[in-house]
Amino acid sequence: MEYRQLGQWGPKVSVLGVGSYLTLGLKTNEAESRAIVRRAFEAGVNFFDTANAYNRGGAEEVLGRCLAEFPRSDYVLITKVWAPMGPGPNDRGLSAKHIREQCRASLKRLGLDYVDVYMCHRPDPQTPLEETLRALDDLARAGDILYWGVSEWPAWLIVKAQALARELRLRPLIVNQPRYSLLYRYPEFETFPVTRQEGVGNVVFSPLAHGLLTGKYAPGAPAPAGTRAADPDQNAVMLRMYWTEENQRRGRQLAELAAAHGTTAARLALAWAMRPAAVSSVILGVRTLSQLDDNLHAADLKLDPGLIAAIEAIYPPPPFPPQA
Ligand SMILES: NC(=O)c1ccc[n+]([C@@H]2O[C@H](COP(=O)([O-])OP(=O)(O)OC[C@H]3O[C@@H](n4cnc5c(N)ncnc54)[C@H](OP(=O)(O)O)[C@@H]3O)[C@@H](O)[C@H]2O)c1
Repeated sequence: MEYRQLGQWGPKVSVLGVGSYLTLGLKTNEAESRAIVRRAFEAGVNFFDTANAYNRGGAEEVLGRCLAEFPRSDYVLITKVWAPMGPGPNDRGLSAKHIREQCRASLKRLGLDYVDVYMCHRPDPQTPLEETLRALDDLARAGDILYWGVSEWPAWLIVKAQALARELRLRPLIVNQPRYSLLYRYPEFETFPVTRQEGVGNVVFSPLAHGLLTGKYAPGAPAPAGTRAADPDQNAVMLRMYWTEENQRRGRQLAELAAAHGTTAARLALAWAMRPAAVSSVILGVRTLSQLDDNLHAADLKLDPGLIAAIEAIYPPPPFPPQA
């Protein structure tokens, strides 16, 4: 397993991490979740990702119990704040009040006395940036978090936050969590160059476009039962962003290319997402132990220029800026 520094600041993380959105403790029962975390850990994965909002705190509780069998010094944990956690006007966002309350609630659910990285899940335009940055710095001073990060913030806001942290002598932003895959390459144009310049790492999510990049969906056919695409409680993002016959067909082409090279589509797509120097880690979403076993092989896969060209012939980069 390769380890990369999280950002200019921060610990080293495995190039593959394990996430917990819609999987651990929700689609995946606790016994299999525990087996997944253990197998990942034994394979050298030292980075785990969760959020307060995943299954309304349920993912943190299950992941916390799964990680309890390992020494705290041996893993790096991200959790997040911002998404609604209740009906009240202060039960969401990035105010000092909500950040403090949710951090304490997350620590309790996780059974930990600190999180490695506390992450702002999305921007909150209703809260002054200075309020959020000071609240995060206070948490670090209190020992509840070590570092802070952001997810899906635009490049201009990352630059602004970093400049403000410098000006106020607060802890810098160390890591960003953008969506990135063969079907979503936009971070290459602005986010990756800007974060590199700012000393901020990237741990990327949905690297398989919710499963479309595994080639398991037959073009034009209904999604097989049990898959994310077949579950109306889980498939909204996937259907909105990726669910076209063209993408199903390209998934099959990727699987054929992979088979010709003795590997799988998932491994090719994951190894492809690990290539940019701006990427510190690729976060896996795995519902079963066998998916984890498949995906872990990506860590050993080296893509030569010919294979990268063949992959990108199936998934050409989008035009940037977007064409009118
Ligand atoms: N910051 C954010 O806003 C944000 C958003 C989303 C996710 N995340 C993080 O990123 C992690 C990964 O995101 P994601 O779950 O969307 O990742 P993904 O890799 O794009 O999709 C994961 C899904 O793909 C399918 N899959 C995975 N490996 C497979 C294999 N080898 N063969 C066949 N199918 C396979 C499974 O779906 P089936 O159920 O169909 O088997 C699995 O649940 C999350 O757990 C979370 O920690 C963060």
